[in-house]
Amino acid sequence: MTQPKRYLITSALPYANGLKHVGHLAGAYIPADIYVRYLRAQKRDVVFVCGSDEHGTAIPIQAIKEGTTPRAIIDKYHTAMKQDFEDLDMSFDIYHRTSEPLHHETAQEFFTYLNERGELEIKETEQYYDEESKNFLADRYIKGICPNCGSDRAYGDQCENCGRTLSPDELINPVSTLSGKVPIKKKTSHWYLPLGKHEQFLREWILDQHKDDWRATVLGQCKSWIEGGLQSRAVTRDLEWGIKVPLKDAPGKILYVWFDAPIGYISATKQWAINNNKDWKPYWYDKDTKLVHFIGKDNIVFHCIIFPVMLKLHGNILPANIPANEFLNLEGDKMSTSRNWKLEMRDYINDFVKKENGGGQCVDMLRYYLTQIAPETKDSEFTWKGFQDAVNSELVSIFGNFVNRTWVLMHKLCRGKVPQLHEEILDDEDRWIIKAIENVKLKVENLIEEYKFRDALFEAIDLSRKGNQYMQKKEPWIKAKKLEAAKASPTGGDLEGVQKEIDNCLHLCLQLTANLTILINPFLPNTAKKMLHMMKVVDKMLDWKNAGKLNLLSVGYSLRAPELLFRKIEDEEIKEQMEKLTANSVKQKNDAKVEEIKSYTENQKSEIQYEDFSKLDLRIGTVTACEKVEKADKLLKLTVDLSSETRTILSGIALHYKAEEMIGKQVVVVFNLAPRKMKGIASQGMILTAEDKDGKLRLLKPEEAVSPGSLVS
Ligand code: MF3
Ligand code: ZN
Repeated sequence: MTQPKRYLITSALPYANGLKHVGHLAGAYIPADIYVRYLRAQKRDVVFVCGSDEHGTAIPIQAIKEGTTPRAIIDKYHTAMKQDFEDLDMSFDIYHRTSEPLHHETAQEFFTYLNERGELEIKETEQYYDEESKNFLADRYIKGICPNCGSDRAYGDQCENCGRTLSPDELINPVSTLSGKVPIKKKTSHWYLPLGKHEQFLREWILDQHKDDWRATVLGQCKSWIEGGLQSRAVTRDLEWGIKVPLKDAPGKILYVWFDAPIGYISATKQWAINNNKDWKPYWYDKDTKLVHFIGKDNIVFHCIIFPVMLKLHGNILPANIPANEFLNLEGDKMSTSRNWKLEMRDYINDFVKKENGGGQCVDMLRYYLTQIAPETKDSEFTWKGFQDAVNSELVSIFGNFVNRTWVLMHKLCRGKVPQLHEEILDDEDRWIIKAIENVKLKVENLIEEYKFRDALFEAIDLSRKGNQYMQKKEPWIKAKKLEAAKASPTGGDLEGVQKEIDNCLHLCLQLTANLTILINPFLPNTAKKMLHMMKVVDKMLDWKNAGKLNLLSVGYSLRAPELLFRKIEDEEIKEQMEKLTANSVKQKNDAKVEEIKSYTENQKSEIQYEDFSKLDLRIGTVTACEKVEKADKLLKLTVDLSSETRTILSGIALHYKAEEMIGKQVVVVFNLAPRKMKGIASQGMILTAEDKDGKLRLLKPEEAVSPGSLVS
């Protein structure tokens, strides 16, 4: 296969609405960074772009939560996320932002290009509109009762209680979260991307051409979208926060966030080119460019179906691969911002990297563990114990230990210099380790090219495991003792032969270490740097083409003293993290409790006198008949026997009680309430209920049956 001329590598642009957690890091950032560092070591032409996604309803919603403006939100989180990525050594060539004018222009040009060529359709639909705030309501801005579980924490896109995906039309009793008012339906027109027209292209491009090189999980999702029938997707919205639709007759319309965000990859490339005096165009137009998107699985449809259709229509190249990752769970549960069950990058940075015994080694420890458990084929799990084990029993005990032993022995037994290799006495064990060094390069290379970073890392680290085995068999420290003994004995011994064996062992272990440095560099860049320093060699040694060579360190070259590559993770640290995690989520629960108590106290009414209370005439009635009121989801019509008379009472409990289960129940009736007309029926009084905190209604009733008409006081 011929090499691509250049590479453009992207990591999903994170929403600038909050700090990101290690699940994001494992999904879209670390794998991309490994791939890019590998390509750079191969001396390929590569540009790695990322940036903040600063549009979409998530931003103004966060602004409302924090009592500030959308602008302040994106500035705050853009800066914080950029810093997090820097602290964790993500080697983006540019970290851009979609609020930049350059991006707005680029996205508008893209829209205009498609629109002028007739590739978009305009459609009129009815959407919820808030008359008070004069806004069409984005899905997230509509709240109501979930048709699935009855919770009142359901939004136009999803129920927060049961997680069901919803559309605004499915919500029961929708209200606007902006004004609290019931929204009306109003006509509006939008631009749509008719995906259906491109079904043939998508089938061929994805399901035929890429059936062997894309991940099964990615192909699976694409397949089900294509087979499920490709619907036209609106690419505009009626919102204030976003990129204006570049047309005169489209006031109040903006580009849908998922239209503009991926174009952010292009505008980031443009900005990179400006900064570096380069031409951006070949990266997006030349077929010899290999474009790879690193994302999490929730972004698959946008990167595999919608954006490629846009790119094709716009005359750009298509991605070669989209190695999407599945999700990373944390200690047995899904990571969740709302439940505060997460490990933010910032927390790890503060608790490990920025600590006195932290720094680059702690960055590499996290990179190591997250790569080792990367959710490449299925969801996987971060546990603190797993992190500790990976660091202590692999990085410290295998890798670190091998390098340290090699250095210590080299100083002790070879006067701190690279010893000679005596070819004439090479034995099978020597030949075995030489083969291992020579073979690993191709293995790691192939795995990285196939985006199998877990396996690639395993192979690289495995070389140090083999190094340990080799050293264990050779036992140069025992040979050194023999040497001492021979020196001391008057008859002497084969002094020269023994020293040669020691030399060979350490020579090979040192060459192996040099190889390890090259192999782990894409994964553990800080460790590689430290090892270069110990070997007193320059960065150039990290060229990938040097891997597999056995002459990386010259004979007689004196090396520095060993440095500790990794520190141990103590039980104490793990305990602290576990406590923090559970305390945080408990705190979240407590915060919710405080909110609840607050809402009870806020609902408190002002004090009344007994006379006020005595004005109420409350009586017990027995329901004798009951039916649903037509065209009213919530209302039941009750016939209530109050002994002195029978009354018709309407009650808003239809979501909580079925009509037939009401018959025979006793209820508390407000007897002297003025009649009220609802849905054309006069309600003669009302019945009392208690509302639980989740919005569920329960009837009040006497503790034991009493005769109808009994007075309540
Ligand atoms: N902001 C989106 C998310 O966090 C990802 C956007 S990726 C891009 O899920 F391609 F649109 F930029
Ligand atoms: Zn629900």
